[in-house]
Amino acid sequence: MAAKPASSLRSARQLEPCTLVIFGITGDLAHRKLVPALYDLSCHNALPVPFSVIGFGRKPLTDADMSALMNQAVDDHYGSEVIDSAACGRVLESPHYVQGEFNDAQAYQRLKETLDEIDRQNNEAAAARNTDDTCEKPDEAAVPSNRIFYLATPPSLFPMIIRRLGKAGLGGRTGLQGKGGWTRIVIEKPFGSDLESARELNTVVQSVFDESQVYRIDHYLAKETVQNLLAFRFANGIFEPVWNRRYIDHVQITAAESIGMEHRGIYYEESGALRDMIQNHLTQLFTLCAMEPPTAFDGEAVRGEKVKVLRAVHPITAAEVPRFSARGQYGSGLVDGQPVPAYREEEKVSPTSETETYAAVKLLVDNWRWQGVPFYLRTGKRLHRQVTEIAIQFKRPPFLMFRRADLKLEDILPNLLVVRIQPDEGISLRIQSKAPGEEMELRPVEMEFSYGSALKELPFSAYETLLVDCMAGDATLFNRNDQVEESWRILMPVLEAWEADIGIDTYVAGTWGPDAGFELMAADGRNWRRP
Ligand code: BG6
Repeated sequence: MAAKPASSLRSARQLEPCTLVIFGITGDLAHRKLVPALYDLSCHNALPVPFSVIGFGRKPLTDADMSALMNQAVDDHYGSEVIDSAACGRVLESPHYVQGEFNDAQAYQRLKETLDEIDRQNNEAAAARNTDDTCEKPDEAAVPSNRIFYLATPPSLFPMIIRRLGKAGLGGRTGLQGKGGWTRIVIEKPFGSDLESARELNTVVQSVFDESQVYRIDHYLAKETVQNLLAFRFANGIFEPVWNRRYIDHVQITAAESIGMEHRGIYYEESGALRDMIQNHLTQLFTLCAMEPPTAFDGEAVRGEKVKVLRAVHPITAAEVPRFSARGQYGSGLVDGQPVPAYREEEKVSPTSETETYAAVKLLVDNWRWQGVPFYLRTGKRLHRQVTEIAIQFKRPPFLMFRRADLKLEDILPNLLVVRIQPDEGISLRIQSKAPGEEMELRPVEMEFSYGSALKELPFSAYETLLVDCMAGDATLFNRNDQVEESWRILMPVLEAWEADIGIDTYVAGTWGPDAGFELMAADGRNWRRP
């Protein structure tokens, strides 16, 4: 993927200068997502000026090594299409590296010194510019000390890093707020591994930072098509009146992947599909689809509505778990015509693993809008193909006036609105139409909107959007503490029941998942669609 044509979306924001500190700079996330995102933003002059990057990691590297590491990440991501311009290269030029153990107080002192040194240089440069421009006395605090701490490490290190930042005086509550700058912290998922650990983590975070400084990432929220769901629902007059139990039969949310768990055996063994995808990404899609209209497109209003709908989700009891959830693990099979091994044969996976690679849950919402309308969420690795979509199935018309013996109401396919998140982003609506000919024969047809052909600009990647939003102080697309805890609350009975249960069914890689997944729908007289 090459750097994209500049988008008007980006240039609208005036960003204050800041320094980004990436904990775990040598890790996979920084390599695959963060550095390429910074590079692309740099290409489009979408980063603030001045802007600096500090990498914090355990490996003994120099600043030059870190620059080489970042260049490598860019090459690996953009390949031969890498654009070699001065603007693009700026972000790679002079990064700083702070070496240290994550629990070493001295290392955080070194980090602080590096931050102070960057501030000093920025202020000197600003003072020199001021003097050149105005021949007046330099403004001593021209550049604010704005800092973003990005936790891109394994989640087990989050509490330690946060506490250390606090002790070093780099946090929010005790930190630099008064020195003419802001401090923000970005926390990657998974945020906890259950309700208790999420609460504990929130307590640690809030002992050092104020909630307004915390940016919990769910990269699904920054996907253009996910955001488009908000535009679709709330910028059009015709959908909201039918967006309720009177017209909608049920909703299916699917995030199917054909890839396996991609050399992340250690992480995935601990996580499984429910924690990896449903607790965060799919729950987010559910909330965007089910929440009430927010009064404004801002962090508090949108997140407030999301929490309300999460609180309205019917609590699944232990006895209901078998009827409200399904899981499975992939066995060997063929994906895209290629043989793939079973999950238990993958690298760093136990040969007796009971980790689910497929998970499905049914959510009911106890409120006026959704009473009796099930939301079915499913995700899986090594499924037939990659597709993420929300399919809203409407009720059939109450009566069919076309009196033909062979045309029954229950035989016609109901209207179906499909929001395709990826790939092939777009929206389609299935409607019934008359087939040409003398007879009144009905045929389903699709009304289609395709992102690619209707809107030409290439969107920025989810990580680019999130980085810029964080720099701009816009938390709308980030998770709030109460949202995270509510989504764990909903899923805890399922997690507990699965953990207590011995044995897991397998499904053939390259199919649409285990029988249990189909039975979940069939028990309600419904079927998953085959996207
Ligand atoms: C991550 C999960 O959060 O999302 C991965 O940990 C998953 O297991 C990925 O593959 C899917 O994201 P995307 O953007 O590729 O749909």
